[in-house]
Amino acid sequence: MRRFFVAGNWKMNKTIAEAKALIGALSPELATIDNVDHAVAPSYLALPAVAGLCKGTGIKVGAQNLHWETAGAYTGEVAPPMVAELCDFVIVGHSERRKFFGETDESVNQRLKAALAVGLDVIVCIGETLEENEAGQTEAVVTRQLEVGLAEISETQAAAITIAYEPVWAIGTGRAATPEDANNVHKNVIRPFLREQFGEARAELMRIQYGGSVTPDNAAELFAMSDIDGGLIGGASLKPESFIAIVKAASMVAIVQQESQS
Ligand code: 13P
Repeated sequence: MRRFFVAGNWKMNKTIAEAKALIGALSPELATIDNVDHAVAPSYLALPAVAGLCKGTGIKVGAQNLHWETAGAYTGEVAPPMVAELCDFVIVGHSERRKFFGETDESVNQRLKAALAVGLDVIVCIGETLEENEAGQTEAVVTRQLEVGLAEISETQAAAITIAYEPVWAIGTGRAATPEDANNVHKNVIRPFLREQFGEARAELMRIQYGGSVTPDNAAELFAMSDIDGGLIGGASLKPESFIAIVKAASMVAIVQQESQS
């Protein structure tokens, strides 16, 4: 059985002081949940403080992006070895990076390879826009993003990768995909691709998160689906009570699934 992985992507929110306060509120509650992997991804500036506070709490810490070069004249960028000093994982290919900062499937692949090379776990984000969805192109878009984004990655390297399916039209809109629609993409598009690329055994172990307007109200329903293995949470990760409720929902679903299997 795959272990749920629930990560909060704080995006461009929280000063260092606010980030510290949020971790202070999260850590006592999250410390009581040991059957779900949970994580936060603050801004670069808040990372040192957050990483320090999360040490020994079980909360994993990630960055929201990284450059693929090891060092050099790339003003404003952050290199993989710098991220690896503080973080357990990094997010690459978020749709906001693609939309506002010109990132492509090819540069997602470069970032992924560079992150794996320094020993980071990686969340690779994919997902179609509203236009693509309405044109019936979801499968084609997601498959292309996976083909190019995961090019030249070995089965062994895949152990460090989580896929986050985030339909762009569901991000920050309050309009989440239905559990059935999301699971359909996870189960019938993403998982088969992973099987083809990395083999049956690896594909069964890899986690596919859903992201896009996950809230305490819809989390349990989403996580109860066969191929939704956690969530990448934006807005609802900024408030301690809602992020805790979402992690608890994953924990409850895990308990129910465990019982039904034994
Ligand atoms: P929301 O949860 O705010 O829709 O954001 C999802 C997301 O983009 C997480 O990376």
